[in-house]
Amino acid sequence: MEIIPNFAVFEGLDGSGTTSQQTLLAEYLEKNNAPFFATAEPTAGPVGTLLRQALKKNISLAPQTMARLFAADRCEHLYGKDGIAERSAKGQLVVCDRYVLSSLVYQGIECGDELPAALNADFPAPHLLVYLDIDPALAQQRLKSRQTLEIYEYPEFQAKVREKYLSLLDRFRQAGVEVAVIDAAKSPKEVFEQVLGAFAKMPIFKDMKMEKAR
Ligand code: TMP
Repeated sequence: MEIIPNFAVFEGLDGSGTTSQQTLLAEYLEKNNAPFFATAEPTAGPVGTLLRQALKKNISLAPQTMARLFAADRCEHLYGKDGIAERSAKGQLVVCDRYVLSSLVYQGIECGDELPAALNADFPAPHLLVYLDIDPALAQQRLKSRQTLEIYEYPEFQAKVREKYLSLLDRFRQAGVEVAVIDAAKSPKEVFEQVLGAFAKMPIFKDMKMEKAR
């Protein structure tokens, strides 16, 4: 499996705080004038926008269609203009909120492991995978403040999501990906301390010599 050395991803259940941690990290990198690209999947591109419509229940798509769209969105995100491959080749630290593992987990539950595994087999892996681990009940409680819930945001599904994440992490470790499992039940600031600890071990992070207070 190809690994992109200056590429890191956040993964976790809905409500685990991946977006908040990515924001805190982006603020930290900004303060340190570090060259970085903070991005997310589904993307804001045409395929990602279609996916967001389906996630919000505005349109209905078969799980197999969703699996293919997530992979197509990822392909464009990786290889399209200003995408992950181009940015990382320029030496930027690329940080992505969700990536391949989200498809293996969510679409794996929805349409079986085979299809998402085949669709995502050729995509390069990140150097670092930060998994924000949280009890599904607590994550669901956090989602309560949201006005509308998306298609996967219900307790029975999220319980399966956690199980599947935990069962797949070893596969990434064995492929040479650095996997950091972080307890996401703590406050965002405490979680961020752990997140920063995981990023600090990345060679690119060391090269950037970041010092500014968190
Ligand atoms: P977000 O709410 O963290 O932005 O993620 C959007 C939702 O899309 C979340 O429920 C996870 C789901 N998702 C998949 O099912 N497969 C994927 O490949 C990705 C990237 C996200």
